[in-house]
Amino acid sequence: MSLGATSAPATASVSLATMPFVSTHITVLLNEAVDGLNIKAGGTYIDGTFGRGGHSRKILSKLEIAGRLFAMDRDLAAIETGKTITDARFTIEHRHFSEINQLATQNNLTHVDGILLDLGISSPQIDEGERGFSFRFDAPLDMRMDQTRGKTAAQLLATISEQQLGKVIKDYGEERFAKQVARAIIKERDDGRAITSTGQLAKVVASAIPKVEPGQNPATRTFQALRIFVNQELEELSLILPQCLSLLAVGGRLVVISFHSLEDRIVKRFIQNEQNRDDLPANFPIKAKDLPQPRLKMVGKAIKPSAAEIKLNVRCRSAVMRVAERTATA
Ligand SMILES: C[S@@+](CC[C@H](N)C(=O)[O-])C[C@H]1O[C@@H](n2cnc3c(N)ncnc32)[C@H](O)[C@@H]1O
Repeated sequence: MSLGATSAPATASVSLATMPFVSTHITVLLNEAVDGLNIKAGGTYIDGTFGRGGHSRKILSKLEIAGRLFAMDRDLAAIETGKTITDARFTIEHRHFSEINQLATQNNLTHVDGILLDLGISSPQIDEGERGFSFRFDAPLDMRMDQTRGKTAAQLLATISEQQLGKVIKDYGEERFAKQVARAIIKERDDGRAITSTGQLAKVVASAIPKVEPGQNPATRTFQALRIFVNQELEELSLILPQCLSLLAVGGRLVVISFHSLEDRIVKRFIQNEQNRDDLPANFPIKAKDLPQPRLKMVGKAIKPSAAEIKLNVRCRSAVMRVAERTATA
Protein backbone atom coordinates (compact mmCIF):
# COMPACT_ATOMS: atom_id res chain seq x y z
CA MET A 1 0.00 0.00 0.00
CA SER A 2 1.28 3.34 -0.99
CA LEU A 3 1.95 6.21 1.23
CA GLY A 4 1.81 8.34 -1.80
CA ALA A 5 4.98 9.92 -2.88
CA THR A 6 7.68 8.71 -5.05
CA SER A 7 11.11 9.90 -4.39
CA ALA A 8 13.75 11.11 -2.02
CA PRO A 9 15.47 14.44 -1.64
CA ALA A 10 18.74 14.83 -3.49
CA THR A 11 21.85 14.98 -1.39
CA ALA A 12 24.40 17.71 -1.91
CA SER A 13 28.13 17.46 -1.44
CA VAL A 14 28.57 21.24 -0.99
CA SER A 15 28.20 22.98 2.35
CA LEU A 16 24.61 22.31 3.41
CA ALA A 17 24.77 25.05 6.03
CA THR A 18 24.87 27.74 3.37
CA MET A 19 22.66 26.11 0.77
CA PRO A 20 18.88 26.42 0.67
CA PHE A 21 17.28 22.95 0.67
CA VAL A 22 16.24 22.07 -2.85
CA SER A 23 14.17 18.96 -3.27
CA THR A 24 14.33 17.12 -6.53
CA HIS A 25 12.59 14.05 -7.80
CA ILE A 26 14.13 10.64 -8.35
CA THR A 27 12.29 9.11 -11.28
CA VAL A 28 10.70 5.75 -10.51
CA LEU A 29 11.07 2.76 -12.86
CA LEU A 30 12.78 5.02 -15.39
CA ASN A 31 14.13 2.41 -17.79
CA GLU A 32 11.23 0.02 -17.28
CA ALA A 33 8.63 2.69 -18.11
CA VAL A 34 10.43 3.97 -21.20
CA ASP A 35 11.07 0.40 -22.40
CA GLY A 36 7.37 -0.27 -21.82
CA LEU A 37 6.51 2.52 -24.28
CA ASN A 38 8.48 0.63 -26.96
CA ILE A 39 9.56 3.95 -28.45
CA LYS A 40 9.59 4.41 -32.22
CA ALA A 41 12.19 7.05 -33.02
CA GLY A 42 9.81 9.04 -35.24
CA GLY A 43 6.76 8.50 -33.03
CA THR A 44 4.56 10.85 -31.02
CA TYR A 45 4.28 10.44 -27.25
CA ILE A 46 2.46 12.04 -24.33
CA ASP A 47 3.83 12.24 -20.79
CA GLY A 48 0.75 13.08 -18.71
CA THR A 49 2.70 13.64 -15.49
CA PHE A 50 5.87 15.60 -16.31
CA GLY A 51 6.94 16.21 -12.67
CA ARG A 52 10.61 17.12 -12.98
CA GLY A 53 10.87 15.48 -16.38
CA GLY A 54 12.87 12.34 -15.66
CA HIS A 55 10.76 10.16 -17.93
CA SER A 56 10.29 12.93 -20.49
CA ARG A 57 14.04 13.46 -20.89
CA LYS A 58 14.60 9.75 -21.39
CA ILE A 59 11.83 9.59 -23.99
CA LEU A 60 13.36 12.57 -25.83
CA SER A 61 16.74 10.81 -25.85
CA LYS A 62 15.14 8.01 -27.88
CA LEU A 63 13.41 10.21 -30.45
CA GLU A 64 14.86 11.35 -33.75
CA ILE A 65 14.12 14.75 -35.24
CA ALA A 66 10.65 13.76 -36.50
CA GLY A 67 9.63 12.44 -33.07
CA ARG A 68 7.37 14.47 -30.78
CA LEU A 69 6.76 14.55 -27.05
CA PHE A 70 3.84 16.42 -25.49
CA ALA A 71 3.92 16.75 -21.72
CA MET A 72 1.36 17.91 -19.18
CA ASP A 73 1.33 18.63 -15.49
CA ARG A 74 -1.23 20.27 -13.24
CA ASP A 75 1.50 21.82 -11.08
CA LEU A 76 2.91 25.18 -12.18
CA ALA A 77 6.32 24.42 -10.63
CA ALA A 78 6.57 21.36 -12.90
CA ILE A 79 5.64 23.51 -15.88
CA GLU A 80 8.41 25.96 -14.98
CA THR A 81 10.91 23.10 -15.09
CA GLY A 82 9.46 21.87 -18.37
CA LYS A 83 9.88 25.27 -19.95
CA THR A 84 13.64 25.05 -19.42
CA ILE A 85 13.74 22.22 -21.97
CA THR A 86 14.35 24.00 -25.24
CA ASP A 87 13.86 21.30 -27.80
CA ALA A 88 11.72 21.65 -30.92
CA ARG A 89 10.38 18.12 -30.44
CA PHE A 90 9.01 18.98 -26.98
CA THR A 91 5.87 20.83 -25.87
CA ILE A 92 4.57 21.22 -22.31
CA GLU A 93 1.13 22.42 -21.24
CA HIS A 94 -0.37 23.25 -17.84
CA ARG A 95 -3.29 20.83 -17.75
CA HIS A 96 -4.95 18.15 -15.74
CA PHE A 97 -4.33 14.91 -17.59
CA SER A 98 -8.08 14.27 -17.82
CA GLU A 99 -7.91 17.03 -20.46
CA ILE A 100 -5.75 14.89 -22.76
CA ASN A 101 -8.30 15.11 -25.59
CA GLN A 102 -8.06 18.90 -25.50
CA LEU A 103 -4.27 18.70 -25.66
CA ALA A 104 -4.60 16.37 -28.66
CA THR A 105 -7.16 18.56 -30.47
CA GLN A 106 -5.22 21.76 -29.95
CA ASN A 107 -2.05 20.16 -31.26
CA ASN A 108 -3.74 18.39 -34.20
CA LEU A 109 -2.93 14.94 -32.86
CA THR A 110 -5.29 12.26 -34.08
CA HIS A 111 -3.23 9.37 -32.77
CA VAL A 112 -0.16 8.91 -30.61
CA ASP A 113 2.27 6.02 -30.18
CA GLY A 114 2.44 6.02 -26.42
CA ILE A 115 1.08 7.61 -23.26
CA LEU A 116 2.82 7.57 -19.88
CA LEU A 117 1.23 8.27 -16.50
CA ASP A 118 3.45 8.28 -13.40
CA LEU A 119 0.78 8.93 -10.79
CA GLY A 120 0.90 10.50 -7.37
CA ILE A 121 2.96 13.47 -6.27
CA SER A 122 6.54 14.49 -6.79
CA SER A 123 9.13 14.91 -4.06
CA PRO A 124 9.28 18.72 -4.36
CA GLN A 125 5.54 18.82 -3.71
CA ILE A 126 6.01 16.99 -0.41
CA ASP A 127 9.32 18.52 0.56
CA GLU A 128 8.29 22.15 0.01
CA GLY A 129 6.44 22.71 3.26
CA GLU A 130 4.34 25.65 2.09
CA ARG A 131 2.47 23.40 -0.36
CA GLY A 132 0.66 21.96 2.66
CA PHE A 133 1.11 18.27 1.76
CA SER A 134 3.27 17.27 4.69
CA PHE A 135 2.91 17.00 8.46
CA ARG A 136 6.68 17.57 8.68
CA PHE A 137 6.16 21.32 8.29
CA ASP A 138 3.60 23.67 9.79
CA ALA A 139 1.99 25.44 6.84
CA PRO A 140 -1.40 26.44 5.47
CA LEU A 141 -3.43 23.32 4.72
CA ASP A 142 -3.55 23.51 0.92
CA MET A 143 -2.61 20.13 -0.68
CA ARG A 144 -3.62 21.14 -4.21
CA MET A 145 -1.22 20.05 -6.92
CA ASP A 146 -2.79 22.75 -9.08
CA GLN A 147 -2.94 25.87 -6.94
CA THR A 148 -4.77 27.77 -9.69
CA ARG A 149 -8.08 25.93 -9.21
CA GLY A 150 -10.19 23.82 -6.88
CA LYS A 151 -10.67 23.87 -3.13
CA THR A 152 -7.85 23.54 -0.61
CA ALA A 153 -7.90 20.81 2.05
CA ALA A 154 -8.78 23.50 4.63
CA GLN A 155 -11.77 24.63 2.55
CA LEU A 156 -12.99 21.06 2.10
CA LEU A 157 -12.62 20.30 5.81
CA ALA A 158 -14.69 23.39 6.61
CA THR A 159 -17.84 21.83 5.15
CA ILE A 160 -17.43 18.05 4.90
CA SER A 161 -19.68 15.77 6.99
CA GLU A 162 -18.19 13.44 9.58
CA GLN A 163 -19.50 10.44 7.67
CA GLN A 164 -17.98 11.47 4.34
CA LEU A 165 -14.67 12.37 5.98
CA GLY A 166 -14.55 8.98 7.71
CA LYS A 167 -15.09 7.28 4.35
CA VAL A 168 -12.35 9.32 2.66
CA ILE A 169 -9.87 8.51 5.42
CA LYS A 170 -10.80 4.83 5.43
CA ASP A 171 -10.89 4.29 1.66
CA TYR A 172 -7.99 6.46 0.51
CA GLY A 173 -5.82 6.23 3.61
CA GLU A 174 -6.71 2.69 4.71
CA GLU A 175 -6.66 4.10 8.23
CA ARG A 176 -8.17 1.64 10.67
CA PHE A 177 -9.02 4.43 13.11
CA ALA A 178 -10.75 6.43 10.37
CA LYS A 179 -13.97 6.94 12.33
CA GLN A 180 -12.13 8.21 15.40
CA VAL A 181 -9.98 10.55 13.29
CA ALA A 182 -12.99 11.94 11.44
CA ARG A 183 -14.80 12.48 14.75
CA ALA A 184 -11.83 14.36 16.24
CA ILE A 185 -11.43 16.59 13.16
CA ILE A 186 -15.12 17.49 13.05
CA LYS A 187 -15.18 18.14 16.81
CA GLU A 188 -12.22 20.52 16.48
CA ARG A 189 -14.02 22.36 13.68
CA ASP A 190 -17.38 22.43 15.45
CA ASP A 191 -15.75 23.71 18.63
CA GLY A 192 -14.87 26.83 16.65
CA ARG A 193 -11.30 25.92 15.72
CA ALA A 194 -11.33 25.77 11.92
CA ILE A 195 -8.60 23.46 10.67
CA THR A 196 -6.31 25.63 8.61
CA SER A 197 -2.76 24.34 9.08
CA THR A 198 -0.90 21.08 8.62
CA GLY A 199 0.44 21.27 12.18
CA GLN A 200 -3.03 21.63 13.65
CA LEU A 201 -4.37 18.76 11.56
CA ALA A 202 -1.45 16.48 12.48
CA LYS A 203 -2.04 17.19 16.18
CA VAL A 204 -5.77 16.46 16.02
CA VAL A 205 -5.17 13.23 14.09
CA ALA A 206 -2.50 12.10 16.56
CA SER A 207 -4.90 12.70 19.45
CA ALA A 208 -7.41 10.26 17.88
CA ILE A 209 -5.06 7.39 17.12
CA PRO A 210 -4.43 4.99 20.00
CA LYS A 211 -1.83 2.85 18.26
CA VAL A 212 0.67 3.70 15.53
CA GLU A 213 2.67 1.35 13.32
CA PRO A 214 6.35 1.47 14.28
CA GLY A 215 8.25 4.12 12.35
CA GLN A 216 5.09 5.77 11.04
CA ASN A 217 3.72 9.19 11.92
CA PRO A 218 0.07 8.88 13.09
CA ALA A 219 -0.96 11.47 10.49
CA THR A 220 0.56 9.67 7.47
CA ARG A 221 -2.56 7.85 6.32
CA THR A 222 -4.94 10.75 6.91
CA PHE A 223 -2.69 13.15 4.98
CA GLN A 224 -2.50 10.70 2.09
CA ALA A 225 -6.29 10.30 2.07
CA LEU A 226 -6.93 14.04 2.05
CA ARG A 227 -4.40 14.58 -0.74
CA ILE A 228 -6.16 12.02 -2.94
CA PHE A 229 -9.54 13.60 -2.11
CA VAL A 230 -8.44 17.21 -2.66
CA ASN A 231 -6.88 16.38 -6.04
CA GLN A 232 -9.61 13.95 -7.13
CA GLU A 233 -6.84 11.59 -8.12
CA LEU A 234 -8.99 8.53 -8.77
CA GLU A 235 -11.54 10.52 -10.78
CA GLU A 236 -8.75 11.97 -12.93
CA LEU A 237 -7.48 8.46 -13.64
CA SER A 238 -10.92 7.12 -14.50
CA LEU A 239 -11.45 10.03 -16.88
CA ILE A 240 -8.19 9.71 -18.80
CA LEU A 241 -8.16 5.95 -19.45
CA PRO A 242 -11.00 5.82 -22.03
CA GLN A 243 -9.51 8.85 -23.79
CA CYS A 244 -6.16 7.02 -24.04
CA LEU A 245 -7.93 4.16 -25.76
CA SER A 246 -9.21 6.36 -28.57
CA LEU A 247 -5.97 8.31 -28.89
CA LEU A 248 -3.57 5.39 -29.12
CA ALA A 249 -2.56 4.26 -32.61
CA VAL A 250 -2.62 0.52 -33.32
CA GLY A 251 0.42 -0.92 -31.53
CA GLY A 252 0.62 2.18 -29.31
CA ARG A 253 1.43 1.64 -25.65
CA LEU A 254 -0.12 2.84 -22.41
CA VAL A 255 2.20 2.75 -19.39
CA VAL A 256 0.85 3.56 -15.93
CA ILE A 257 2.81 3.64 -12.67
CA SER A 258 0.49 3.59 -9.64
CA PHE A 259 1.31 4.16 -5.99
CA HIS A 260 -1.96 3.14 -4.37
CA SER A 261 -3.84 -0.15 -4.58
CA LEU A 262 -7.03 1.71 -5.60
CA GLU A 263 -5.24 3.32 -8.55
CA ASP A 264 -3.73 0.03 -9.65
CA ARG A 265 -7.13 -1.64 -9.42
CA ILE A 266 -8.68 0.98 -11.74
CA VAL A 267 -5.86 0.54 -14.28
CA LYS A 268 -5.86 -3.26 -14.12
CA ARG A 269 -9.66 -3.53 -14.47
CA PHE A 270 -9.71 -1.07 -17.35
CA ILE A 271 -7.10 -3.04 -19.28
CA GLN A 272 -8.73 -6.38 -18.45
CA ASN A 273 -12.18 -5.15 -19.53
CA GLU A 274 -10.78 -3.97 -22.85
CA GLN A 275 -8.86 -7.20 -23.28
CA ASN A 276 -11.75 -9.52 -22.46
CA ARG A 277 -14.59 -7.87 -24.36
CA ASP A 278 -15.61 -11.25 -25.80
CA ASP A 279 -15.99 -12.67 -22.32
CA LEU A 280 -19.78 -13.12 -22.53
CA PRO A 281 -21.89 -15.95 -21.07
CA ALA A 282 -21.70 -19.11 -23.22
CA ASN A 283 -25.38 -18.87 -24.24
CA PHE A 284 -25.24 -15.15 -25.06
CA PRO A 285 -27.23 -14.70 -28.31
CA ILE A 286 -24.38 -13.55 -30.54
CA LYS A 287 -22.30 -15.40 -33.13
CA ALA A 288 -18.61 -15.89 -32.37
CA LYS A 289 -17.61 -13.77 -35.38
CA ASP A 290 -19.73 -10.88 -34.07
CA LEU A 291 -18.26 -10.89 -30.58
CA PRO A 292 -16.62 -7.62 -29.57
CA GLN A 293 -12.87 -7.90 -30.03
CA PRO A 294 -10.19 -6.81 -27.53
CA ARG A 295 -9.11 -3.18 -27.86
CA LEU A 296 -6.13 -3.50 -25.52
CA LYS A 297 -3.83 -6.32 -24.58
CA MET A 298 -1.86 -6.44 -21.36
CA VAL A 299 1.89 -6.56 -22.03
CA GLY A 300 3.72 -8.73 -19.50
CA LYS A 301 3.03 -8.75 -15.80
CA ALA A 302 2.86 -5.90 -13.32
CA ILE A 303 6.37 -4.57 -12.66
CA LYS A 304 7.59 -3.36 -9.27
CA PRO A 305 10.82 -1.57 -8.36
CA SER A 306 13.76 -3.83 -7.54
CA ALA A 307 15.15 -4.05 -4.02
CA ALA A 308 18.12 -2.00 -5.26
CA GLU A 309 15.84 0.80 -6.52
CA ILE A 310 13.88 0.82 -3.25
CA LYS A 311 17.14 1.02 -1.32
CA LEU A 312 18.09 4.15 -3.27
CA ASN A 313 14.61 5.66 -3.16
CA VAL A 314 12.38 4.38 -0.39
CA ARG A 315 9.46 6.49 -1.61
CA CYS A 316 9.07 4.20 -4.64
CA ARG A 317 8.36 1.10 -2.56
CA SER A 318 4.65 0.96 -3.38
CA ALA A 319 5.01 1.52 -7.14
CA VAL A 320 3.34 -0.89 -9.56
CA MET A 321 3.67 -0.45 -13.32
CA ARG A 322 1.33 -1.86 -15.96
CA VAL A 323 1.73 -1.77 -19.72
CA ALA A 324 -0.98 -2.29 -22.34
CA GLU A 325 -0.92 -2.20 -26.14
CA ARG A 326 -3.68 -0.94 -28.45
CA THR A 327 -4.96 -3.62 -30.75
CA ALA A 328 -6.40 -3.12 -34.25
CA THR A 329 -10.06 -3.26 -33.20
CA ALA A 330 -12.10 -0.04 -33.33
C1 LIG B 1 5.30 11.15 -9.59
S1 LIG B 1 5.36 12.73 -10.27
C2 LIG B 1 5.97 12.46 -11.90
C3 LIG B 1 7.45 12.42 -11.95
C4 LIG B 1 8.03 12.36 -13.34
N1 LIG B 1 7.71 11.14 -14.03
C5 LIG B 1 9.53 12.56 -13.29
O1 LIG B 1 10.26 11.64 -13.69
O2 LIG B 1 9.98 13.62 -12.85
C6 LIG B 1 3.69 13.05 -10.59
C7 LIG B 1 3.42 14.38 -11.27
O3 LIG B 1 2.15 14.28 -11.86
C8 LIG B 1 1.43 15.45 -11.64
N2 LIG B 1 0.02 15.06 -11.64
C9 LIG B 1 -0.61 14.23 -10.79
N3 LIG B 1 -1.89 14.11 -11.14
C10 LIG B 1 -2.06 14.85 -12.27
C11 LIG B 1 -3.17 15.10 -13.11
N4 LIG B 1 -4.36 14.58 -12.88
N5 LIG B 1 -2.97 15.90 -14.19
C12 LIG B 1 -1.76 16.43 -14.45
N6 LIG B 1 -0.67 16.24 -13.66
C13 LIG B 1 -0.83 15.45 -12.59
C14 LIG B 1 1.91 15.96 -10.31
O4 LIG B 1 1.72 17.35 -10.23
C15 LIG B 1 3.38 15.56 -10.33
O5 LIG B 1 4.16 16.61 -10.83
